[in-house]
Amino acid sequence: MRAEFDDSLVTGNEMIDTQHKELIDKINKLLDSCESGRDKLVAIKTLDYLADYTDFHFSEEEKLQEEIEYPGITEHKKEHEKLRTVVKELYEMLEEEEGPSDAFVEQVNKNVIEWLYRHIKGFDRSVAEYKFMTANSERL
Ligand SMILES: [Fe+2]
Repeated sequence: MRAEFDDSLVTGNEMIDTQHKELIDKINKLLDSCESGRDKLVAIKTLDYLADYTDFHFSEEEKLQEEIEYPGITEHKKEHEKLRTVVKELYEMLEEEEGPSDAFVEQVNKNVIEWLYRHIKGFDRSVAEYKFMTANSERL
């Protein structure tokens, strides 16, 4: 399975949507690296890129929530923490095994892609809606 950005993932906030596309691209690069050669070091390197970009994206999203005084920020940050834990577990799997196994790929599908889809459709969309609402009510 490859992750795919489609209309169901659009939040309407340009910054968030652009970064989600990039995030999905990084997830797919990780999956590609698992297929070609199954080299442990290559997989670790692509996981590094994904982990770095995830950190960047989460901090940008959290900064935005602080700026707009989003009331659900605490819960949102907790959700972000969950994915950070998943990424740590993925590193452990790569370390313990000889390389990206089928089980590793399964974890990426289940705990990263499915998590991201759910998170975007619920948590991120409500941030984008809140921002849109507050920006527009100021103009009235
Ligand atoms: Fe988020």
